[in-house]
Amino acid sequence: MPSTPRSPSADLSLPPVGFGTASLRGEHGVRTVAAALDAGYRLLDSAFNYENEGAVGAAVRASGVPRDEVIVTSKLPGRHHAHDAAVATIEESVYRTGLDHLDLYLIHWPNPSQDRYVEAWGALIEACERGLVRHIGVSNFLPEHVDRLVAETGVTPAVNQVELHPYFPQAEQRAADAARGIVTEAWSPLGRANSLLDEPVLTRIAADRGVTVAQVILAWHVGLGVLPLPKATSPDRQRQNLEAADLELSAEEMAAVAGLARADGRNNDQDPAVYEEY
Ligand code: A2P
Repeated sequence: MPSTPRSPSADLSLPPVGFGTASLRGEHGVRTVAAALDAGYRLLDSAFNYENEGAVGAAVRASGVPRDEVIVTSKLPGRHHAHDAAVATIEESVYRTGLDHLDLYLIHWPNPSQDRYVEAWGALIEACERGLVRHIGVSNFLPEHVDRLVAETGVTPAVNQVELHPYFPQAEQRAADAARGIVTEAWSPLGRANSLLDEPVLTRIAADRGVTVAQVILAWHVGLGVLPLPKATSPDRQRQNLEAADLELSAEEMAAVAGLARADGRNNDQDPAVYEEY
């Protein structure tokens, strides 16, 4: 183990809300991500497996937004955890964006049965040292997975991106990340627009505040200290989601939203202890 533990999050400055890009590909993807940048998003969340690093990079390059103001994120898929494959995949991710570096690169899933995520982490550390990626982190990592990375490499992930919405608020995971100085990001923060958007407790708060249900949900994330990554296609939704960061919920409202938590609140039963993606 290296003698000096390092935390790559030290000089990482993140906005309160980012933009999810899964399923946004091709020309339509470029236009949608360009609209998000126009609306003011400064964190874009992509992945090798979303097959849209090219569209995301094209939107960034065409945007006119200074490159150092945008955090471009991508993720390493499970089939490329072996060291040399991981290095080649990170190089390919950067190449696909047409940018000279990525700002944040994550291991997409730990895939514990494969048991090569520590090896993959070594490749991410090297990519960081080479300047290919500026910061590194993980996604869907349970505390035990994070602790193994730190124990075996001395490098703590900057962020951990996990499923997190009012049906599945991840209290223990959030506490574990916070205790390790890791920023928790939320994927599917709106529950992929499932029945969450019709929950009476949320529609009531939204009506009281004169905002939308999506804004209440995202303000709840921000109130918890979590960075949500909503995906939205229309400029109107993109803008309202971004503006949710300005809405401060009261303690009573936060508690009311917390009442929606369910033990099995995951959308698709994707428990990282057993669910794997390649
Ligand atoms: P669309 O992409 O058609 O705009 P999540 O971020 O949890 O994965 O949810 C994404 C889903 O939520 C998409 O179907 C998206 O629709 C929808 N969505 C995004 N923003 C809003 C909003 N402000 N109001 C209602 N639905 C939204």
